[in-house]
Amino acid sequence: MMDTNAALYGDLTQILVTREEIAAAVRKLGQQITQDYQGKELMMVGILKGAVVFFADLLREIDLPVKMEFMAVSSYGATTKTTGVVKLVKDLTVDITGMHVLIVEDIVDSGMTLSYLSKYLETRGAASIKIATLLDKPERRRVDLKADYFCFTIPDKFVVGYGLDYDEKYRNLPDIGVLDPRVYGGN
Ligand code: IMP
Ligand code: MG
Repeated sequence: MMDTNAALYGDLTQILVTREEIAAAVRKLGQQITQDYQGKELMMVGILKGAVVFFADLLREIDLPVKMEFMAVSSYGATTKTTGVVKLVKDLTVDITGMHVLIVEDIVDSGMTLSYLSKYLETRGAASIKIATLLDKPERRRVDLKADYFCFTIPDKFVVGYGLDYDEKYRNLPDIGVLDPRVYGGN
């Protein structure tokens, strides 16, 4: 569907996941989480900024009392490769002692970000910590990290849309697509 953002869509070589596929997968994941957390108090921790769109949709598919917090870590900037160095840029604003924490992330790539964040949250006394990610790129993993919940496994391609960016662009595209490597000087 190329009704809006035609120029941004023109930078994609392929639509990988459509908005309809995303909506169906997010609904299913919300139902799964609702079952798994029955009787528990859930704290969803969204990782800024990429997970914001997924977070907002997932939140509304969960039929439980839910609290929300956001954290931010240093990003790649205008590059498509991780530096391997993770820095906390925005911390939690509340005490999470005894809470059941669900980290909500856009994509697990090398796994460095989530490995760092889950270790950090363990030190803050959460009763449990699980990870929900929209996308999983297992080929690129550099640390042993498995998401408890994920919607789509994708190949080793740089993708944008539905919150994911390249140099802060493309986050508003409703579908997820492969960015043309010419945009970032790759091939
Ligand atoms: P990791 O620490 O290597 O797992 O990187 C995770 C973070 O890198 C994600 O939260 C994204 O912000 C970013 N990232 C990794 N792969 C992509 C991609 O294909 N498109 C856009 N951002 C990506
Ligand atoms: Mg991110």
